[in-house]
Amino acid sequence: MEKKFFEWSDTMSVGIPEIDEQHKTLVDILNRLFVAVAQRESNEITIEILDTLVDYTKTHFGLEEKLLQDAGYNPAEFAAHQSEHRAFVEKISTTANKYLIEGKSVSFEIINFLKHWLQEHILVTDKKYATALQASGYSTKNWTDFASSAMATKQAETPKRKQWWKVW
Ligand SMILES: [Fe+2]
Repeated sequence: MEKKFFEWSDTMSVGIPEIDEQHKTLVDILNRLFVAVAQRESNEITIEILDTLVDYTKTHFGLEEKLLQDAGYNPAEFAAHQSEHRAFVEKISTTANKYLIEGKSVSFEIINFLKHWLQEHILVTDKKYATALQASGYSTKNWTDFASSAMATKQAETPKRKQWWKVW
């Protein structure tokens, strides 16, 4: 089987199944973007993938930040985490706008940057909160319920798609 551009590995697990699932979806969307660029797919598809990437990333970051706030995560660590999120959203939004407005193509350099950023962020920054939450014995149950209803709401807004983040 052909090797994927961005292969999920269990070392990236933060031990919270819903967060892992969301991270896997981000990995899937980046893989989809890679295929679109490698195969020079249409602008419409590429724009749709970029839109989905921005949308899904914002949703995921929002839910993750809510988890950290609910859990009473260390404020300085929270602020640092949130600023990493903001920088990433800024980067993908800029990429999407450049593509859309200036007609600049998405380079492999950008896709590689996104891949490495996400990998590092999960392995270092996300694992840090996962360890802290685990050590404090915090139960993610309420957050999990909240997150699945937030995802269901997103789904209800996009009835035309089988799964709101899925780009074929
Ligand atoms: Fe994060």
